[in-house]
Amino acid sequence: MHLSKTDPELAQLLQHELIRERDGLELIPSENIVSPAVLEALGSVGTNKYSEGYPGKRYYGGQEFVDKIESLAIERAKKLFDVTHANVQPYSGSPANQAVCFALLEPGEKLMGMHLLYGGHLTHGWKVNFSSKYYTAVQYPTGKDGYLDYDEIGRIAREEKPKLIFIGATAYPRIFDFARFAEIAHDVDAYLVADISHVSGLIIGGVHPSPVGCADVITTTTHKTLRGPRGAMILCNGEESNFLKPPPEKSRRYLPTLIDRAVFPGLQGGPHDHQTAAIAVALHEAAQPEFKEYAAQIVRNAKSLADHLLSYGFTLISGGTDNHMLLVDVTAKGLTGKIAEKTLDEVGITVNKNTIPFDTRSPYDPSGIRIGTPSLTTRGMKESEVAIIADVINRVLHHPDDDALKRRCHQIIKDLCAQFPIYPDLSYL
Ligand SMILES: Cc1ncc(COP(=O)(O)O)c(C=O)c1O
Repeated sequence: MHLSKTDPELAQLLQHELIRERDGLELIPSENIVSPAVLEALGSVGTNKYSEGYPGKRYYGGQEFVDKIESLAIERAKKLFDVTHANVQPYSGSPANQAVCFALLEPGEKLMGMHLLYGGHLTHGWKVNFSSKYYTAVQYPTGKDGYLDYDEIGRIAREEKPKLIFIGATAYPRIFDFARFAEIAHDVDAYLVADISHVSGLIIGGVHPSPVGCADVITTTTHKTLRGPRGAMILCNGEESNFLKPPPEKSRRYLPTLIDRAVFPGLQGGPHDHQTAAIAVALHEAAQPEFKEYAAQIVRNAKSLADHLLSYGFTLISGGTDNHMLLVDVTAKGLTGKIAEKTLDEVGITVNKNTIPFDTRSPYDPSGIRIGTPSLTTRGMKESEVAIIADVINRVLHHPDDDALKRRCHQIIKDLCAQFPIYPDLSYL
């Protein structure tokens, strides 16, 4: 590695981050550990290139290989998700959602999404976000039981008549009923946008239903359960895109053109070609039969963790999980989300504090934590390792001030991680 010679200060920091990821357990549900191949593509010469436009229609020369790289990513995405159009250029999930709103709505028009404090994402209409500053946003909560209340969502939609409805969440441990949402959206003639950022890997793996056939547009980050680089894609069906010319009208028929024009030149300049290359690699990996087993193991691990935590008396929102994540109400154990996050951090377990439905506390120090299993499953851990992790979580959260216990538990986690190493050949020094 040259970095250690040219910039030892930065190399040292990257090495520390590598060791942190190697020695600790990342249980943040939106994180994962990419393959060395994805990492290699991400650190490639693609980052040197400007390629505003789309394959075959660019504003810069020298595109013979970049066109092929982007086309490969697009074809793989279309095949994997079974859609006719894929845009792989959004820099990340938030810009992808912004592009969809930009494509389908006029400023001030109404969109509806899940309330942030109940598990929705910022870009689905949260009050400080562009999605409510530039549009009129309506938010729907979950029911008291933590599940989406489809009757209530239908009622709000009929009352508010939004032009666009988001389904998708950042903290929701259950299956999304896309067909039910489609009925609600059709009822009020709204576009249905499924933001499957969290569950796209589970969908590819066949352990969560697909929104294809229900949603008009699908957005997804590529770096969560899909296990690719940071990035995003927008998927839809419709007439072949021609981003050079505005379509005659804004309608479902022209979704591909509307989406492409919104991403470029609407919101972005040059795509990140190194990121596109890495997305292509991740999609190739996700198309392999092993990925199905990976997705199924993510869910088995989450269910196993839920069962253990329930047996230790923890309160789980909705009583359990169907996917890769658990939402735990830690106040029942006399803790707050902030304290639980910090305590687990001290033993090498990274989780994130999170509000729970009907939370009476603030998002900065909420009542819950989110725990996810994508990363530990990538490392190869299964139910027997999950049992060890659950035991550590239980013990330290019952005795958050016991330093000797925390030292012992930290060692248990380090030993566990050493048995399931990541990037054994990588070093920045
Ligand atoms: C449902 C959902 N949509 C969009 C995003 C935004 O992705 P990004 O952080 O890449 O902008 C997230 C990120 O957590 C998410 O959970």
